[in-house]
Amino acid sequence: MTQYLIEALNVSVNYVIKRGLLGKPLYSIKALDNVTLRIMRGESLGIVGESGSGKSTLARCLAGIIKPNSGRILYKGRDIYSLKGEDYIEYRRSVQMVFQNPHTSLNPIMKIRSILKDVLRASGKWSKGGEERLIELMKAVGLREDILDRYPIELSGGQAQRVAIARTLATEPKVLILDEPTSALDVSVQAQILELLRELK
Ligand SMILES: Nc1ncnc2c1ncn2[C@@H]1O[C@H](COP(=O)(O)OP(=O)(O)OP(=O)(O)O)[C@@H](O)[C@H]1O
Ligand SMILES: [Mg+2]
Repeated sequence: MTQYLIEALNVSVNYVIKRGLLGKPLYSIKALDNVTLRIMRGESLGIVGESGSGKSTLARCLAGIIKPNSGRILYKGRDIYSLKGEDYIEYRRSVQMVFQNPHTSLNPIMKIRSILKDVLRASGKWSKGGEERLIELMKAVGLREDILDRYPIELSGGQAQRVAIARTLATEPKVLILDEPTSALDVSVQAQILELLRELK
């Protein structure tokens, strides 16, 4: 039997736009209607659709950021909302998301070094000599080491997006969800980020 890494099964999402006095939904938008997809290890899947068609919503469902109103999200064959303890932690570590705007996805009051250290610590991958790992991560995304001592605001859009990618790589993810990671960047930087993602694959 094929083991899928991640699956969305008959997923529907409604966003409630307006609620009544007792919180009862009065008006909602159907962002996803019965969507099913399955992704195997090593596979890449691109989703194309017009603005507002639900691409980001689907990405957030797969990453466990929003819960579908109906349908299920499976990681290695198991419903992500039934995962407990270690299994849940493994899912959170293994499925990472890179957002559209790098500057809003990096904590502005932390230097890059601390941002990366935090993630390594949280995923149990920080140890003495961890500084080496930080330098490796910077190299992997084509950034110089001195960027580690800067704040996100001191980086260009392309550099910030590279840091966001380095942060996801720190946990050694099995699934990387990219929600238009280049749309906030200018064209030449877009090409560099796409090339970087191709290399990392
Ligand atoms: N948090 C939210 N609350 C209410 N409605 C939302 C919310 N997020 C998205 N929507 C609505 O859900 C629908 C799908 O939005 P979504 O962001 O998933 O589309 P998208 O395909 O990613 O669009 P884009 O290409 O512009 O990024 C849209 O009609 C949008 O207005
Ligand atoms: Mg979107």
